[in-house]
Amino acid sequence: MRRQLVAGNWKMNGSLVANAALLAEIKAGMASAVCDVALCVPAPYLAQCQAELAGTAIALGSQDVSAHAAGAYTGEVAVSMLQDFACRYAIVGHSERRAYHGETDEAVAQKALRAVQAGVTPIVCVGETLSEREAGQTDAVVGRQLQAVLDVLDAAQVDKMVVAYEPVWAIGTGKTATPQMAQDVHLALRAKLAGKNSAAAAEVKILYGGSMKPDNAVELLAMADIDGGLIGGAALKAADFLAIAAAA
Ligand code: G3H
Repeated sequence: MRRQLVAGNWKMNGSLVANAALLAEIKAGMASAVCDVALCVPAPYLAQCQAELAGTAIALGSQDVSAHAAGAYTGEVAVSMLQDFACRYAIVGHSERRAYHGETDEAVAQKALRAVQAGVTPIVCVGETLSEREAGQTDAVVGRQLQAVLDVLDAAQVDKMVVAYEPVWAIGTGKTATPQMAQDVHLALRAKLAGKNSAAAAEVKILYGGSMKPDNAVELLAMADIDGGLIGGAALKAADFLAIAAAA
């Protein structure tokens, strides 16, 4: 039985003052052991969030990680630096990184590998654009994106990652995949994982991301292969984030 994970992705939002208020509300409202919960925050706020989340069950994560260990890579953040702040997760390959920063499937795979090797769990994002969905290419696109990661991992490392299916057309748009549409893709992703390691495939959490909100979370999270959510906009409102976590 996979335990559900609700991970907030704050994206490029927040300030010291706003974060403190949001974290206080989340901590006060979080029922114990509802599900696994994580917050993926902007790198400058890792120290603040680590301190605020100390002693809670809420895990910390980053929104990216370098494929390199250290060195002359200006602007990059190494996995060892994330570990200095007790990050358990690192989002890799978010569609916004792929679209605005030219991250290729291969670059995403190297980031995922770097995280896995360090013991940080990558949340590997995959997803199709609207035109790809309309062209019937959804499974091919997400399958290609996931396969690139599977190609660099050993079979024994497959259960060291989390996958997030995020249809690009549903991100920040208010449009959501129907539960069945999402379930169909999650099932295809699990089959792809099983091609590398069938036992691990049953263990890997596959999250749904794309305008998940309190009013659609229950239905989405009830699907057999949806093991949680990667939450953008709704993670910035404590009440919404808490309601989604309670639905998991
Ligand atoms: O990482 C989160 C996803 O991009 C979903 O964002 O919930 O604002 O649509 P959203």
